[in-house]
Amino acid sequence: MEKQKFDGYADKYDEWFMKNDKLFTSELRLFEKVLGDISGKKLLSVGCGSGLFESYIDSSNIEGVEPSEDMAEIAKKRGINVIKIGLIEDVDLPDEKYDIIYFNGSSSYMEDLSPVYSKCLRALKANGRLILLDVPKESAFGFMYLLGKSLNTYDHEYLKDAMPELPYPLALASSGVWHTTEEKINVLKNLGISRFSYYQTLVKNPLYTNEEPEEVIEGYKSGGYVAIIAEKN
Ligand SMILES: C[S@@+](CC[C@H](N)C(=O)[O-])C[C@H]1O[C@@H](n2cnc3c(N)ncnc32)[C@H](O)[C@@H]1O
Repeated sequence: MEKQKFDGYADKYDEWFMKNDKLFTSELRLFEKVLGDISGKKLLSVGCGSGLFESYIDSSNIEGVEPSEDMAEIAKKRGINVIKIGLIEDVDLPDEKYDIIYFNGSSSYMEDLSPVYSKCLRALKANGRLILLDVPKESAFGFMYLLGKSLNTYDHEYLKDAMPELPYPLALASSGVWHTTEEKINVLKNLGISRFSYYQTLVKNPLYTNEEPEEVIEGYKSGGYVAIIAEKN
């Protein structure tokens, strides 16, 4: 298989979160809040990565799809049932199998969201939930990653004194396809979804995000990490 965006970054990815432990706790709080009670439910994690977040919850009913072999190998060791090492675009999902399908940070590495979300909506049971968690393009984090991407460095006078101590690896910021939250909402509306709720965290500026964990609050217009919950009709 051709080289994937996260190949070679599995260790760096986990290490970044472990060093930015307060930021990680904020994101984990959002993740746990939006998944809710998962006991007895069937879940699919699209772009499950190394299964880092799942290692903090009961992952016994979580299946995963992940294109990067390095990441998938760690996820398997953490107990995720990786059903396919490949792109979600290349997976056939059964109709109406899952209660929850979620993308934790993975939409931000996909160009064409509509066919992917459409496939996942078909694979959800009636009233099942599609949950999308991402760094919004319009957030301070989104701006920072796009500026780093366009300058090809974070070490630039424009960013002097404004960067967090340990920024997200530049290669992963640069390979991102950063979408706005409203872009994703509109994709889902065009697929017939009308029931939405939204939660967010990381409302502080990136420079201060790792000082202490933040709470989860409703809405999507302030956070550096935002969850859209879309309910299937
Ligand atoms: C930011 S990481 C998130 C990993 C994991 N969900 C987590 O929260 O730690 C994005 C993940 O999406 C995966 N990914 C990128 N494009 C994908 C695609 N087309 N289909 C499935 N997964 C994809 C990447 O390999 C990577 O593991």
